[in-house]
Amino acid sequence: MRVYIVDDYEQMSVKAALIVAGQITMKADSILGLCTGSTPIGMYKELVKLHQQGLDFSHVITFNLDEYWGLSPDNVQSYHYFMHENFFKHVNVKPENIHIPNGLAENVDDECIRYEEAIKQANGLDLQVLGIGRNGHIGFNEPSTVFIAETHLVELDADTINDNARFFPSREEVPTRAITMGIKTIMQAKKILLLANGEGKAHAIKEAVTGEINPGVPASILQLHPDCTFIIDKAAAKYL
Ligand code: F6R
Repeated sequence: MRVYIVDDYEQMSVKAALIVAGQITMKADSILGLCTGSTPIGMYKELVKLHQQGLDFSHVITFNLDEYWGLSPDNVQSYHYFMHENFFKHVNVKPENIHIPNGLAENVDDECIRYEEAIKQANGLDLQVLGIGRNGHIGFNEPSTVFIAETHLVELDADTINDNARFFPSREEVPTRAITMGIKTIMQAKKILLLANGEGKAHAIKEAVTGEINPGVPASILQLHPDCTFIIDKAAAKYL
C-alpha cells in the first residue's frame, strides 16, 4: 500500500486525476470503477479539464460502486444523477459504456448478479477509485463481522445515513438500503486508488492503514491488495 499525504483537497484532486489520466493513457479502453460523494468531486473537475486538453474517454468503460435502492436515475439524489452532473455530461464516455446499478430493478438479487457478471464480462476493473466512510466503509460495505463478497443489497448504517443526510432535504428521505459492489469485487480490481480528506476521516484512515485487517473496518482489507494507493490530505493523515 502506498500512502501519499498532500497539503489539501485541491492537491489530492489533481494527483488523483493525473493517476486516472495515466491509466487511460496507458490503456485507452480502461475499465474504471468510480465512486460518488463529496470526496471525488474535485477529481472529476480535474478530469474534465484534462478532457478539454485532449484526454479521450471514448473507449473507457465505467462501473460505479453503488446506487441507492429505490431511487430512479433521474432523482437528483441518485448516484446516476450525481455522475451525469459531475462527470459524464462533461466528457466523452459513451452512454453504452456507463454502468451503474439499477436502484429500481424489479428483482434486486437478479440485478446484483447481472452487475457482477457485467464486470466479469468486461474482464474486471483496471482501476477502482474509492472514498472512505467515517466508519471505514468502502462502497457501501458497512462494518460487519465478515467481508461480504460480491455485489449485494446492503442496509446502510445509522452513521452512514446521518453522514449522507446533508445531500437530502431531511434525514427521513435518505434511503436505508443500497446496491454495492462487494469487497471481493473491489479487491479484484487490478489497481485501487483511495481518496480521503478532512479530519472526519482521520480515524478511519488510521484504522485502514495501520489497524488489524478485520471486517469491522472494511477498508482495512486494502492492506492485502498488491497495488493500492491512498491519497490523503494532512487533516485525514492526522493520526498516522
Ligand atoms: C460512494 C461510496 C462511499 C463514499 C463514502 C465517502 O460511491 O461508495 O463509500 O465514498 O461514503 O463519502 P464522502 O466522499 O461524501 O465523504
